[in-house]
Amino acid sequence: MSNRVTITDHATGKSIDLETIEPTLGARLIDIQPLFRELGLLTYDPGFTATASCSSTITYLDGAKGELLYRGYPIEQLVEQSSFIETCFLLLCGHLPSKAELDQFSSEVLQESLLQEEMKRFFEGFRPNAHPMAIMVGVVGALSAFYHDFQDIHDPQNRKHSAKLLVAKMATIAAWSYRYANGLPFTYPRGDYNYVENFLHMMFSLPTNDYTPNPLAVRALEVIMISHADHEQNASTSTVRLAGSSEANPFASIAAGIGSLWGPAHGGANEAVIRMLEEIRASDQPLEHYIERAKDRKDRFRLMGFGHRIYKNYDPRAKILRKLCHEVVEGCKTTKETQELLELALRLEQVALEDEYFKQRKLYPNVDFYSGIIMLSIGIPLNMFTVIFAMARTVGWVSQWNEMFGDGHSKIGRPRQCYTGVEERDYLPMKQRKK
Ligand code: CMC
Repeated sequence: MSNRVTITDHATGKSIDLETIEPTLGARLIDIQPLFRELGLLTYDPGFTATASCSSTITYLDGAKGELLYRGYPIEQLVEQSSFIETCFLLLCGHLPSKAELDQFSSEVLQESLLQEEMKRFFEGFRPNAHPMAIMVGVVGALSAFYHDFQDIHDPQNRKHSAKLLVAKMATIAAWSYRYANGLPFTYPRGDYNYVENFLHMMFSLPTNDYTPNPLAVRALEVIMISHADHEQNASTSTVRLAGSSEANPFASIAAGIGSLWGPAHGGANEAVIRMLEEIRASDQPLEHYIERAKDRKDRFRLMGFGHRIYKNYDPRAKILRKLCHEVVEGCKTTKETQELLELALRLEQVALEDEYFKQRKLYPNVDFYSGIIMLSIGIPLNMFTVIFAMARTVGWVSQWNEMFGDGHSKIGRPRQCYTGVEERDYLPMKQRKK
């Protein structure tokens, strides 16, 4: 098979042979770097629908098959057999750890999970009704003012250290954003708990009561966290890479990623799904009314938790969470309201999957469709859903950020544009402008 593609500009009659790149898995790519130099042509691809912005060895997803691999391992095997902390090691280091490596990594993450005491004042500076995502963006950015020692991004040891530090501190920041908003005292991580247990402990334990994390809640959150840990070059990861490409410090780069994740088209969809289901449940309108609205181009309403840029098949994470949803709703003796939301979600999925509009466009439930019902069932409040997504995705962000500097091809990210504004014109002094 030829490893070249010929591009001919019929306007000038000039041609160029471009090399193709063969990835380990996935579609061949055309290296378009000589295109502008040789033919003076740019490529146009809003939303990067057919453009790879980097090479990566971390995560692979096959949209047609509905497959997701972290460092080659299928997500289904990881949620069954691994833990979140082991998955963090895998994503960061590229291989499954030995027992000694895992023990050491877990212990280092635990040690780093404390925050400088002065950081409490940052939380206290927010209004109590602030969205926890707003608190998280601010506090993570503020880490740059506290941890100067790890900011030499050209030193691989430094990068590894800041990556670990961010993974560790994110659970404390996430839990504290909830504690502050609820007027509760800040809680410290415990040495005898793992990452997920510690997060639940920091969220829910009270000085007045003994609190032991419910094993089913721990298991459910482990699965959610593993499923959300990385997802190759999505909007927030690309934001982290782009921010980091200017050699901005890691804390600022991750804060930028959290901002990008917040939107309802991305990580904010988990909160939006529950709001949508609640609206449908409270409404007099039949479910089909909402399906029709989702199909109407003039209506901004979309079926939240449905559709994906890459998956044109069932999102493998949604499959895992759909199954888990039943176990958790039953096992946690959840409220009648949450059970009704699950029933509604199942009906909505069925109606949508049988509808021609959704079938033609290959729109399936994505990771956010069922994750919210699980989180509600284990007592997580709605405004913490995207925070938990951010906490889980931090390891993906820092792994990709670290890889960017290590691969030897790191360049500042600088997309081109198709300018459609007015041509050059002369400045008009004020008195010559129209009244
Ligand atoms: N409801 C109704 N129509 C939809 C939906 C939806 N949820 N998603 C896509 N479509 C339609 C869209 O209108 C378009 O129709 P047409 O071909 O007639 O113009 C077609 O399907 C293709 O959609 P697109 O908008 O070009 O696809 P995209 O790759 O640009 O967008 C998406 C992907 C995830 C932003 C979009 O599907 C969406 O807004 N879904 C709802 C929000 C959501 O659940 N987001 C979570 C994504 S997964 C987790 C994550 O990444 O954080």
